[in-house]
Amino acid sequence: MQKSIDVGVFIPTVSRGWFHSVNTRYLPGTYEHVLHVVRGAELWGYDFVLSPQNWRGTKGTSKYWRHSLNSMAVTGALLQATNRIKVWSTGYVTETPPAVFADTLATFDQIAPGRIGLNIVTGGKKDIFDTLGMWDDSLDHAERYEKAAEWVDVVKALWTQDVVNHDGKYFHLYDAMMDPKPSVLPTLVNAGASESGLKFAIENCDIAFIACGDDPELIQAAKDSRRLAESMSDRPTKIYALLTLIPGETSSQARELMEWIEAGVDLDGLADMESGYRANKSFDKLSSSSLSLIGGKDYRSVQRGTIVGSYDELPEMLARVVTEAELDGVMLIVPDYIEHLQSLALRTFPRLAEFGITTRLSSPKINANIRP
Ligand SMILES: Cc1cc2nc3c(=O)[nH]c(=O)nc-3n(C[C@H](O)[C@H](O)[C@H](O)COP(=O)(O)O)c2cc1C
Repeated sequence: MQKSIDVGVFIPTVSRGWFHSVNTRYLPGTYEHVLHVVRGAELWGYDFVLSPQNWRGTKGTSKYWRHSLNSMAVTGALLQATNRIKVWSTGYVTETPPAVFADTLATFDQIAPGRIGLNIVTGGKKDIFDTLGMWDDSLDHAERYEKAAEWVDVVKALWTQDVVNHDGKYFHLYDAMMDPKPSVLPTLVNAGASESGLKFAIENCDIAFIACGDDPELIQAAKDSRRLAESMSDRPTKIYALLTLIPGETSSQARELMEWIEAGVDLDGLADMESGYRANKSFDKLSSSSLSLIGGKDYRSVQRGTIVGSYDELPEMLARVVTEAELDGVMLIVPDYIEHLQSLALRTFPRLAEFGITTRLSSPKINANIRP
């Protein structure tokens, strides 16, 4: 039986992308680069792109994320610059009133009806909020998700009701009226990995993102997430995995690229990130996803479960992860968002069909007559 999945890209609006290393391919975190990446992703058939939101870069030799573009501003521009691909943005719900995002996303829908989505982030890294002067120490980890759930209720009410009155624990709106409404409800996603985060995603969002990869524990966590979603709803939230891929023409070339990136690991930058999480009084409640980089000697330049292989090996490797983890979609991180995304789209993803997985990238309409 064939299974169809969505394939998207976590776009590098942040310098160094997701590589904690001084050895990275061209990842400047500039709009010019991201525009090329997203136009390519649309051309090659990817389903969606998502930009992260970050308010503070890190100290350290790689200057990781020192160049971070604002997710909302970039999304508006990218929606105008594209025709088909979905362009999803990220917003911190704990520091922005729901009406501001309801209004912004409804405006995005005017630019590109039906291609809109929001990644809802509650935030656990205190120094990011210190940049805004807005860290709320009164909220613990679970309360941030409780506030996020009420935030979503208000946003959905503003998108669907003529007049909104809401007197809740965190938000109070009276006689609120907001138009235009979005043409279709924007896709809501969340990447909470803790119990409260995952439950929030299942109860309030269309898609739960989880960090996954070629690692039995991460695959099991993905399956557990699906079981939880199924037990909580008749129309379970979809489970998409964040995957880091290190491709190459040959397996040794892919391994060499991985070794080169790892050789430049930015330990000072990673320590700086860790201190941002440690400053949160709920540090011990933060999930393994946000803590995957924490552990001093265990620091690595890449996400746990990173998949390293040649374009010819990757179809089988990817199909196994997708099948075993029971995924509905994947979102990719790669070292080179031009060369790698193009070759993966033309050479690797079409071959997942041999293992029972189809994607938009394997559509004959898209790939007819294309030879790499
Ligand atoms: C795919 C993905 C995208 C994420 N995007 C962001 C982001 O843009 N900004 C951010 O501060 N955190 C981001 N996170 C972190 C999550 O929102 C979440 O805080 C983290 O996975 C820890 O889960 P928890 O909040 O349940 O402890 C992302 C995580 C993943 C896996």
